[in-house]
Amino acid sequence: MNKNATVINRESIENWRDQKFGMFIHYGLYSVQGRGEWAMFIEQQDIDEYKKLANDFTAENFDADKWAKIAKSAGMKYMVLTAKHHDGFSLWDSKSCMEDHTVMNSACKRDLIKEYTTACRENGLMVGLYYSPLDWRFPGFFAPRLYKTNAKALVKQTHDQIRELLTGYGKIDLLWFDGAEDFWVAQGLRLNLLRRPEDFRTNIQVEDFWKAKDLDKFIRETQKGIICNDRIGDKSYGDYFAPEKKIGEYNVVDPWETCDTLTDDWGYHPGAKIRSLRNVLNLLVKVVCNGGNLLLNVAPRPDGSFEPNEIKRLEEVGAWLEKYGESIYGTRGGPISCGDFGGTTHKDNNLYFHVLDWNEDEILIPDVGSPKITSLTGANLTVNKENGLIKISVSDKDKLEMDTIIKLTYQKPVKEIFASDIDYKELSKKRSYSSDAIIVADVK
Ligand code: GLC
Repeated sequence: MNKNATVINRESIENWRDQKFGMFIHYGLYSVQGRGEWAMFIEQQDIDEYKKLANDFTAENFDADKWAKIAKSAGMKYMVLTAKHHDGFSLWDSKSCMEDHTVMNSACKRDLIKEYTTACRENGLMVGLYYSPLDWRFPGFFAPRLYKTNAKALVKQTHDQIRELLTGYGKIDLLWFDGAEDFWVAQGLRLNLLRRPEDFRTNIQVEDFWKAKDLDKFIRETQKGIICNDRIGDKSYGDYFAPEKKIGEYNVVDPWETCDTLTDDWGYHPGAKIRSLRNVLNLLVKVVCNGGNLLLNVAPRPDGSFEPNEIKRLEEVGAWLEKYGESIYGTRGGPISCGDFGGTTHKDNNLYFHVLDWNEDEILIPDVGSPKITSLTGANLTVNKENGLIKISVSDKDKLEMDTIIKLTYQKPVKEIFASDIDYKELSKKRSYSSDAIIVADVK
């Protein structure tokens, strides 16, 4: 990350890390088919036939303001909408989209990106756009040497469309690339195996296919302070990395964001299974404790409305965040990494211990800094000190199914109390702890 980026705006990145929770939205022609956003490719649908779906794409209940309000009710602070997915269908009035495969040439005939960007801003949410340079309509993507002119046209479309998006819709806070890593290019029909990209990373066929350096320079000069993920070029561009459908490993130094789905897939499937509230909260809390943000995907119906069960689940998440958000927003992960049973976050003088699975009777914290210990979730606590450890136990009835949160308030910033990360496994193995192991501010 970052090696080649022209301007890196630390302030924007830290601001984005404070937001923690965003809404991802996959919406496009594939929503009409209801078989996920990869159906065109996986089923090898005839492109001309696929394009006819535009006649049914009315988006009659697309209401970006409603979307933004739902995101807010979920406690989300930013949104990322698929401006164009791999099928090439562009949700805005794009002049440089090959063969006018755009929303203006569909039954909808409204610039949805305009409505969306306006609604995000009006609702105080960060504005994010997903953009896939990969476009299945271009044979030059699959066989760039055989279709050289076509491959060039694809790269040109990408640069031109990024220019349209970044110059026509006011301030864009975040650009979310997908399918633009060099290792995707020239993989032909093996492309659907790219869901396991590790097989391809070492097999780059065309170096610098997307002219990523120029693109990156343009992006950062045009939208000051914008942040981008790293799914482009050789992955050295971008401000943060983006693990997909998995909780990122504990890393409280580099910025990262897990993207995952609220239902089974990214694109719409009628009647899709939905995560339980516990499952969503587990995901969110673990991601945040491990040092990341969570971008949670919602798949609107073809008409642009959300499934009622998705709205309900999101509101439940929002209600939880309303109560316990101080242990999430504006925090950073750590300093104690806990593995499966929970994790910690901290902000200023407060350390929050999140227990998600009670597989231990008591929680251990190094006995330094004489914190005031309370429970955000109202648990009765028993606190003992022994062998350099504070041992906190919670009565069974106060062990919550969702998340039991214990708050430790120190007299100075947690970062100064624990100057280095602590591995909970090591801590609990010892069951006694020497405070020498922790570099306290006093002795620094
Ligand atoms: C994948 C898929 C895509 C989805 C994206 C979200 O790379 O190709 O369909 O949009 O992940 O992260």
